[in-house]
Parts: sequence; structure tokens; C-alpha cells
Amino acid sequence: MADWGRRIGAGVRAGAAAAGGGGGPPVFIGLRGPLGAGKSVLARAVARGAGVEAPMPSPTFNLVFRYSLPDGGSVVHADLYRVRSVEELAGLGWDDLLADGFVALVEWPERAERELPEDRWEIELEIPDEPGVRTAKARRIGAPVPAELPGFPAAE
Ligand SMILES: Nc1ncnc2c1ncn2[C@@H]1O[C@H](COP(=O)(O)OP(=O)(O)OP(=O)(O)O)[C@@H](O)[C@H]1O
Ligand SMILES: [Mg+2]
Repeated sequence: MADWGRRIGAGVRAGAAAAGGGGGPPVFIGLRGPLGAGKSVLARAVARGAGVEAPMPSPTFNLVFRYSLPDGGSVVHADLYRVRSVEELAGLGWDDLLADGFVALVEWPERAERELPEDRWEIELEIPDEPGVRTAKARRIGAPVPAELPGFPAAE
């Protein structure tokens, strides 16, 4: 899972480089799944693949952490579990997270269902009963950037 996440992150930044350094259209990846499913672990792996080297604490209490990339782009790691209103979301700088050059990795996107960008990826993590097994389903919604995720070509 960590390796897959790093490949996603690297692919995302390669796309940004093609679009001209730290710019490029915003990338939004929603991470769904029950408590402890591995959303934070996957988000960190994507961020590492995108070039984040700083320590990445859990956004459980701060809700949003932003990391600047050397190329001028930013990675944002958010956890919306505790968000209760649209006003709260705005207070977190929600609109800024959807700007060019941003890679947004958002846990518990269902807390902001109606505020999610039309074009996005959603990754759903599950912990099946089988010991040692984790599953991930990726779903493309609208016309997100990137258009493909490693291991999830064109198909939904
Ligand atoms: N792919 C994985 N394989 C094995 N263990 C994992 C995997 N992903 C996460 N874990 C373990 O599961 C625990 C919870 O992971 P994580 O914090 O990423 O969950 P989460 O989905 O972000 O939870 P929350 O909803 O509380 O934010 C951690 O102890 C982590 O080490
Ligand atoms: Mg988490």
C-alpha cells in the first residue's frame, strides 16, 4: 500500500512538472474507509512520493497540514472527521486547497460531501476479515487530474 501511494505521489508531481513547475491543475484525492483503515498511512505515502520530506504529524486535531514542495507546489493533508459545518470548512481555508499547484489528500471527505470538487479521485480502503489483507478501491469522479492512477487504468 505504501509503495502504491508513493507511485501515485510521484505520478502526480510528474504531471505538475509537465504543466510547468509547481503549477498545474489541482489534484484532489479523497480517502474513505472506517477508523483505522489506513487513510493516513496512504496519504503520507502519496505525499512522500510527491516530494514531502518534513515529518507529517496526524491531522486528527489540527485538521489541515500544508507542506511546500521545492518546485513551488503544495501538498495538503486534511482530516475532516471533526468538521461539522460548511463554515468550519471555510475556516480551514477549504477554497485555497482547491487551487492550482495543490495536491489535496483528504480523509473523511464524506464530512464535506457537497463541497467536494466535481473532478476528483476517491480511494476507499477496507479491512476485510481475512488477516493481513487490506483492499483499496479507486474511483474516478468527473475528469480528475491525474487521469489515471497506477494500477487503476481507465476502468472505474
Ligand atoms: N496497509 C496497511 N497494512 C497494515 N497496517 C496498516 C496499513 N495501513 C495502516 N495500517 C495500520 O493501521 C493503523 C491505522 O492506520 P491509519 O492511521 O492510517 O488509519 P486511518 O484510516 O487514517 O484512521 P482514522 O480514521 O482514525 O484517521 C496504524 O497503526 C497503521 O500502522
Ligand atoms: Mg487518519
